[in-house]
Amino acid sequence: MKIAINEQKPEHFRVSWEGQYEVFSHFEFVCGIPSALFAIGTYKKNGKPNVCFHAWSAFQGEGDGYYVILAGISKNCHTYKNVLRDKSFTVNFLSKDYYDALIKTIFHNKDEDNEFLAGGFTAGKAETVNAPVIEESFLTLECELAEARDLFLGSRTVLILGKAKRAVLEDSHAHRADKKYGPEGFMFNIHSPIDLKTGEGEVSAVATMKIEKLV
Ligand SMILES: Cc1cc2nc3c(=O)[nH]c(=O)nc-3n(C[C@H](O)[C@H](O)[C@H](O)COP(=O)(O)O)c2cc1C
Repeated sequence: MKIAINEQKPEHFRVSWEGQYEVFSHFEFVCGIPSALFAIGTYKKNGKPNVCFHAWSAFQGEGDGYYVILAGISKNCHTYKNVLRDKSFTVNFLSKDYYDALIKTIFHNKDEDNEFLAGGFTAGKAETVNAPVIEESFLTLECELAEARDLFLGSRTVLILGKAKRAVLEDSHAHRADKKYGPEGFMFNIHSPIDLKTGEGEVSAVATMKIEKLV
């Protein structure tokens, strides 16, 4: 048996927080597609290093061009303005052990806050672009802004394309089927998948990977 959901949000879907279905499409919770979690590093206008915990993205390229596709950057956040101003950002992958520290940066998000201090992170400088790096990351991508556009006409979020200029990896995470794909590697966002029958679904989760088969 299959359950189909259309463009119109079903009425029995429970609203877990005000504005949930304006900020997100109901398909977000219907599909429950996990996405890699990482932190975007930029400088604020006052020069303070900024951290933005981020989920909805993709990574793809060909030949000499490898692109980070930030698929859902809110127009209200610092990061959007910082990236447009400096044309630079870093993408920092940290293990699940840093989840709580990354959440702290969200609660210390004023202009005058140093979000690296808030999360207890060590700030380094990217070599190829004007952006800070989180030294605790096992993988950092230094990116130069290639394009920014609204996701769709009138959208709250923008899609940002960054061209990767440099990748820096911890040695422990630089050897094929290694720590990248275990409890100390990439973490994923499982964003409140909804029970399609009862309409309930306020629980989110953080996941890591387990390799099932080498092929
Ligand atoms: C698990 C998780 C994933 C998030 N993913 C995104 C995202 O993909 N895009 C976004 O704009 N905000 C996302 N946020 C919210 C931002 O982290 C938050 O608004 C942050 O304070 C913005 O930082 P800034 O204003 O310094 O840029 C996420 C938050 C959490 C907890």
